[in-house]
Amino acid sequence: MESLIKKLYHEKNLSDDEFKILIESNEGSELLVKYADLVRQKYYGKKVFLRGLIEISSYCKNDCLYCGIRRSNKNAERYRLTREEILSCCENGYELGFRTFVMQGGEDSHFTDDFMCSLIYEIKNKYPDCAVTLSLGERSYESYRRLKNAGADRYLLRHETASPELYRKLHPSEMSLENRIECLYNLHSLGYQVGAGFMVGVPFQTTENLIEDLRFLQQLKPQMIGIGAFIPHHDTPFRNEKAGTLEMTLKLLGILRLMFPMALIPATTALGTIAPDGRERGLKTGCNVVMPNLSPVTVRKKYSLYDNKICTGEESAECKNCLQRRIESVGYEISTERGDAIN
Ligand code: 5AD
Ligand code: FES
Repeated sequence: MESLIKKLYHEKNLSDDEFKILIESNEGSELLVKYADLVRQKYYGKKVFLRGLIEISSYCKNDCLYCGIRRSNKNAERYRLTREEILSCCENGYELGFRTFVMQGGEDSHFTDDFMCSLIYEIKNKYPDCAVTLSLGERSYESYRRLKNAGADRYLLRHETASPELYRKLHPSEMSLENRIECLYNLHSLGYQVGAGFMVGVPFQTTENLIEDLRFLQQLKPQMIGIGAFIPHHDTPFRNEKAGTLEMTLKLLGILRLMFPMALIPATTALGTIAPDGRERGLKTGCNVVMPNLSPVTVRKKYSLYDNKICTGEESAECKNCLQRRIESVGYEISTERGDAIN
């Protein structure tokens, strides 16, 4: 295992067979952590970038089988934030030191291009030193173009899985991997900093599927890569499936850090949900971003993608302080910079 990890560290790549051995082995995790941290510190030092996450809507027209806010979930409580509520999250976040706002939501037609453009324009006008990141799912080229022109800097759209067969098992037939990939390339060509990513341990996933994800990311070359363990939600068809493991998620985080030395990789909420020290372990394995929740506490439980999601009771300031403590406990430091990708 040692030789494979060293090879990945030096060459940023392995053959499919080698990736398979590395992914399936139970050995070498300490060495992977060591090299992942070496690479991360070479480019980013001890900095961890903060992104203030604002969950703007729990309405979604899609029906992804794994997701708690899928349209078929009649038990989901739906909400959408008003323009004023979103702006007040930003104001609160700015005072807390956030210099990136991430507006994330289900695919909700209420958030038209006109609405979003005017909102983005106002945020960028009020906070010219901040980056605006969107995570609003699949939209048309024209929509992405308008949002970019209004001032959006970055876009997060996980590809979820790069395997067409697995994609079909996780999504209804009206959704397609082709369209999702086209969206990612459109975002890239429009000049967004792009984030892609996948879930680890989702039902039916094989090692080969994970290797397909790594190959897809090598082609797309996103600036940001978000991955997290799959966690079942009790009101979805996958309610009885097993969650992805911390070990497998950390292994893939380490591999991704060695493959993409300059990528921005978050220690996600899902990682903190599967283990109490999940995010700290992620930071030690190459992660350099955290995304504290800035959403109003009154709506947080309703943005329920999976069961037992953490950070749903805390005020934004508590959430930030909690993360700051966690970051410092493993020897890193919060950066107050915008934290753009360095390539
Ligand atoms: N478990 C873990 N992650 C999930 N997501 C959606 N549902 C789940 C789940 N049950 C992830 C998807 C999506 C992101 C916003 O949340 O990868 O892109
Ligand atoms: Fe909304 Fe999947 S159910 S994007």
